[in-house]
Amino acid sequence: MSRWRPGDRRPDGESMLRVDQAGEFGATRIYAGQLAVLRRNCPEAKLIARMAAQEQRHLDRFNELMARRRVRPTALQPLWNVAGFALGAATALMSEEAALACTDAVETEIDKHYAAQLARMTRSWHRTSPSSKQRSSSIAIVPVPLERPTLRAIPY
Ligand SMILES: [Fe+2]
Repeated sequence: MSRWRPGDRRPDGESMLRVDQAGEFGATRIYAGQLAVLRRNCPEAKLIARMAAQEQRHLDRFNELMARRRVRPTALQPLWNVAGFALGAATALMSEEAALACTDAVETEIDKHYAAQLARMTRSWHRTSPSSKQRSSSIAIVPVPLERPTLRAIPY
């Protein structure tokens, strides 16, 4: 494995925080749009409400980190605000199943994003570490099972 050299790209902490916060923000807006349309007591709304609360905790944490590190949010945040809400509302207007299919797609993409980010960070850490061979044997990435809504939706 080669070491970092001038000109090689390093993971940029500010960009990672900005993208992560934008993703969490987008998820909260999609779920807000869905919850504005779904019947309050239907099982799908209850599940999405729990997921929305979880995403809000993630967003709060990223907002806190960004404020502490003085990282500005994405310039596209006003767009995510409106587009995310509209996407959520539109899928909920189609059906409860469509709303859950959208939710599952959002969570799947977020999972892929964080897995790819973790892989990049791990590779970078190994490239820049003076004792990477020594450390590589002690790293174990344990997949975390995520709660998933049962999908009953036809493909949209
Ligand atoms: Fe999240």
